[in-house]
Amino acid sequence: MAFKDLFRTKPISKILQQGGDGEHDGLHKVLTVRDLTFFGIAAIIGGGTFSAIGNACFSGGPGVILLYVLCAVACGFTAMCYAEFASRVPVSGSAYTYAYVSFGELFAWIIGWALIMEYSIGNIYIAFSWSGYFTNLLESFHIHLPEWLTINYTEAHRNFLENKAGEGFTAWQNAPMLGSLKIIFDLPAVIINVLITYLVYRGTKESKNFSNAMVIIKLLIVVLVIAVGIFYVDIDNWAPFMPNGFGGVMAGVSAVFFAYIGFDAVSTLAEESKNPQRDLPKGMIYSLVICTVLYIILALVLTGMVPYTALGVTDPLAEIFALKGVKWMLFIVSIAAVVAMTSVMLVFQLGQPRIWMTMSRDGLMPKKFSSIHPKFKTPGFATIVTGIVVGLPIFFTDETFVLDFTSIGTLFAFVLVCGGVLLLSPQSEAEVAEAKTRSKFRIPYINSKFIFPLIVIVAIVLVNYLFPDFFANTLDFSGDAITTNVTMVLFFILCIIMAVLAFLKNLSLIPLLGLVSCCYLLTGMALNNWMWFGVWLLLGLIFYFTYGRKNSKLNAVK
Ligand code: ALA
Repeated sequence: MAFKDLFRTKPISKILQQGGDGEHDGLHKVLTVRDLTFFGIAAIIGGGTFSAIGNACFSGGPGVILLYVLCAVACGFTAMCYAEFASRVPVSGSAYTYAYVSFGELFAWIIGWALIMEYSIGNIYIAFSWSGYFTNLLESFHIHLPEWLTINYTEAHRNFLENKAGEGFTAWQNAPMLGSLKIIFDLPAVIINVLITYLVYRGTKESKNFSNAMVIIKLLIVVLVIAVGIFYVDIDNWAPFMPNGFGGVMAGVSAVFFAYIGFDAVSTLAEESKNPQRDLPKGMIYSLVICTVLYIILALVLTGMVPYTALGVTDPLAEIFALKGVKWMLFIVSIAAVVAMTSVMLVFQLGQPRIWMTMSRDGLMPKKFSSIHPKFKTPGFATIVTGIVVGLPIFFTDETFVLDFTSIGTLFAFVLVCGGVLLLSPQSEAEVAEAKTRSKFRIPYINSKFIFPLIVIVAIVLVNYLFPDFFANTLDFSGDAITTNVTMVLFFILCIIMAVLAFLKNLSLIPLLGLVSCCYLLTGMALNNWMWFGVWLLLGLIFYFTYGRKNSKLNAVK
């Protein structure tokens, strides 16, 4: 097989044919634009809002609001790219399918592999956070689970080694033994995963009804938190704005970005939508806009109600009301958090099997992954495997690890989606006309020829003016600063290369800004995240070269 075969692309016409001609018509087409928007919201507001936001505020202070704006901008541009792609390629598969038509098979595989981190590993974080709030809720009914059944093994062990008083330490001391092994695991996290897997296995229509009801409750309660919280805001808490500098703000990037992940899950439901070309873009963009507005207000309220140092907890929304003595809100917030996170898990657990199903149809995953349950019309086998992939690591990972891992993988996928749209931008008038007849959503073309290089120059001048030592510090590769600086230097090089390409090739501005803003967020990732991500990619490549490449359906297309 020739080297160029690694970059062979799948023709859009072939994908449309597979998704729309009845060849793979097993799935129910029941979802409308409102359902898709609700799916988006169901996936977006969850663990990031109720849990991870606490540590992001703790490290960044009120200035974390800037990070919310930055992530919203990056996700907004990316959502437009997803929307354009989804309207051109309206079948299941998310970024994976889009990469297949633009970058070719190898990159498509890499994206599909990275998406496992978003959907499955992301769900592990949510299951842990869900368990935290659920345990709070049980406590309010005076039901107390033993600590060794409410914490993960890794965290309990670490707390014990660090002699850190609290739940983990007690769990380690009191856990029963199985031979020489301590029995410590997060039981509620395991149970919620089993329940969600069962629900998704049973069928999309049932899941949709469940999700719609939960989203309405969730939105109402987030609005209530804002409405009640606003009366307790003390603007003195907003100073100092960035107590740990911009570095402190960027330390929260995994958490804040995680809060936005989910709008893209909508695109995995293409084959279950009534009118995917019209409705998918709308569903994605509406859900993102609604959530962004809510986040910015919520972050302002949170950092205004209490000093940022009080927010370094896993249940910050409950904590603020506890500190203000508003007891009735504690209970409501705990219920909301449990509901919110259940619906996020549901959407992610729906998305993962559908990506595998598409990869399996292409021959890159074993055939069994695309089998449809005869009665429930869901990808039954892939759904069960997803349940196992989420469920097993609950026994041996911890929250921080899975949060970082998810965010880096998802950002990576977003970068490739924006890059894909850049590559796909029609060049000739005939191609533009042809594209218009096929798709109903097109990103408005703004020529970046002069705008983008100008943005880069203004940004460099502005940074130099506002932070006179910035570039000198960035070029200092000693001590702890090393990773941040390496990624920052790479980012600047990328900006300059893209500015030259924009000038020479008249690139489309919106996907270009999407690509660059997602790359900027990647600069906030720590060295060990990159290391784990590298290992993950390597495993994926081994799988591709030993299985996918040989079994690809494109082998038959010459
Ligand atoms: N955005 C989703 C959440 O915060 C993943 O739970």
